[in-house]
Amino acid sequence: MVGARSAFLKRGYYRPLLDGVSDILLKHYNNGLILDAGCGEGYYTQGIARKLAESNINADIIAADISKTAVNAAAKRRGAAEYAVANVYDLPLNDRSVGMVLNVFAPFALSEYMRILKKDGIVIHVMPLENHLLALKQLVYNEAYTNAVKPCETHGLTLCDKHDIKYIFRPDTAGDIMNLFMMTPYYYTSSENDRAKIKNAAFLETEAEFRILVYKLNKI
Ligand SMILES: C[S@@+](CC[C@H](N)C(=O)[O-])C[C@H]1O[C@@H](n2cnc3c(N)ncnc32)[C@H](O)[C@@H]1O
Repeated sequence: MVGARSAFLKRGYYRPLLDGVSDILLKHYNNGLILDAGCGEGYYTQGIARKLAESNINADIIAADISKTAVNAAAKRRGAAEYAVANVYDLPLNDRSVGMVLNVFAPFALSEYMRILKKDGIVIHVMPLENHLLALKQLVYNEAYTNAVKPCETHGLTLCDKHDIKYIFRPDTAGDIMNLFMMTPYYYTSSENDRAKIKNAAFLETEAEFRILVYKLNKI
């Protein structure tokens, strides 16, 4: 999954999301340490580090993921961040030591994020919307369902910004289509037959639909 994700993201298909996340992070930056929680192979970590450097902001960034393979891949990227293999539900960070938590498609560990955040702390949460990758699912399943968009438990946080990003993209090659499929959970639950449908797909035009939510820690 890490290899597929790296190969797919390198092709720029989710660049509009990276740009949206970077702009929102810059807008709400509060001079504190930034944690990319569940950073995967570091595409967004590196992207936000670049954006901050381009804006002449010398930010401290750390990134954590439970997967050693993902962290190994992330740590090989150029960019000013430190990486740790860690569980977002039990982070090796002191109470009130972090300014911002970035959470892109990773588990939302509310009470742990609230423990580590400083009193003006910010959480940026990125989630997929209803029609995200619907056409990809339609290639595989006879009946493809839209995603259930359930808000996470955010007790103790107040929503202060929200930005949706929606566009259609067309992977250029069969390899890109397969990498996209392999970076979703559908690949790991699908049959040989279903995988073959993707392998033989010459064309795909599908939806990218993301929501970026920004929360502030309530007064403590
Ligand atoms: C869908 S991937 C997203 C990765 C990255 N944020 C991105 O968007 O490219 C979810 C990531 O969460 C990580 N993850 C899952 N459970 C975790 C946990 N309890 N603690 C830390 N990371 C976790 C996985 O290893 C995986 O890299």
